[in-house]
Amino acid sequence: MQRKGIILAGGKGTRLRPLTNSVSKPLLPVYDKPMIYYPLTVLMQAGIREIAIITTPEDQQLFQRLLGDGSQWGIRLEWIVQPTADGIAQAYLLAEDFLDGAPSALALGDNLFLGDSMSPHLVAANAALSGGTIFTCEVSDPERYGVAAFAGDRVTGIVEKPSKPPSNSAITGLYFLDADAPSRARAVKPSERGEFEIVTLLQSYLEEGALSVQRLDAGIEWFDAGTHDALLEAGQAVQRFQRSGELFGSPDGAAFCHGWNAGATVENALHQLGKTSYGAMLGAMVRKDACLPEALPM
Ligand code: TTP
Repeated sequence: MQRKGIILAGGKGTRLRPLTNSVSKPLLPVYDKPMIYYPLTVLMQAGIREIAIITTPEDQQLFQRLLGDGSQWGIRLEWIVQPTADGIAQAYLLAEDFLDGAPSALALGDNLFLGDSMSPHLVAANAALSGGTIFTCEVSDPERYGVAAFAGDRVTGIVEKPSKPPSNSAITGLYFLDADAPSRARAVKPSERGEFEIVTLLQSYLEEGALSVQRLDAGIEWFDAGTHDALLEAGQAVQRFQRSGELFGSPDGAAFCHGWNAGATVENALHQLGKTSYGAMLGAMVRKDACLPEALPM
C-alpha cells in the first residue's frame, strides 16, 4: 500500500505572537514562500501523492486558498480539522480514516529541511513498511528538543528536553510510521500538560525494537521555525541556499521533477509567479530539465 502524507499545520503559535494573532504559523513567509511549502515539498520528494493537511477550524479556508486540491501539482490534498491543539500524536487519530490502513509520513508544518542530500534518507525511510523511522539532526543545543540516545547506530532511548542530553541528536518533526500508528496512538494517554505526545507514540515502537533512525548528514540544515529568531534564520538560510540558483521548498519543482504536473500547469505557475526570483529559478529548472537524480526517488 502506498504511503500517505500528513502535514500537521494547526497549533497555537504562541511563541510567534503577534505575527500569529491573525495568521497561522505555517502560512507565514520563509523568505520567498509560505512556510508550509517546505514540509509539503519534502513529502512530495518522498514520492507521496496523497496528503492530509490538518489545520485549526478557523484557518482551514486560508490554507485551501493557498494550496487548493493539489491537482496543479498532480497530488491529492485532503483537509482535516483539529478542533484544539491536543498534541502531535492526535494527528494519527484525526487522519485514521484518510490513512485507511496505509503507512504514513507525518511532517510538522513549521519544520524545514534544506540541502541536496535529503532524498536518500527519504527513500530509505519509505522502504521500511513495518516499524517507524525518525530523522535526527546534530544540534548544539539539544536540551531544547526531543533527543535520541544511541548504541552504535541503534536508537535506545528518547528523552524530551533533557537537562543532561544523551547525545546532540535532536529528533526532527518528520516521522515515517507503519500502518499501526493510529491504533498505537489510541493507546497514548494525555501527558501532564494534557497533550497526546508524539514521544509516547514513538516509545511504543522503540520498546519493541521497531524504531529506526535516519541521521541527517551535515549537508542538511534543519529548522524548527517556531520562534522569531528561528523564523528569520530559516528565511536567511533559504536565501543563502538559493543563491546557487537551485530552488528549495517548491511543490512546483517537486511535481516537475516527478513528472506529475502537465506542461500546462508548469506554464501556469510560471505565469502566476511572474518576475519573482522563485519564477525565474523554476523557469530555469524547467528549461534545463535540472532535476538531480536523487530528487527522483520513486
Ligand atoms: P509547536 O511549535 O510545538 O506548537 P505551536 O505551533 O502551537 O506553537 P507554540 O509552542 O509557539 O504555541 O507545534 C509544532 C507544529 O505542530 C506546528 O506546526 C503546529 C503543529 N501542531 C498542531 O497542528 N497541533 C498540535 O496539537 C500541536 C501540539 C502542534
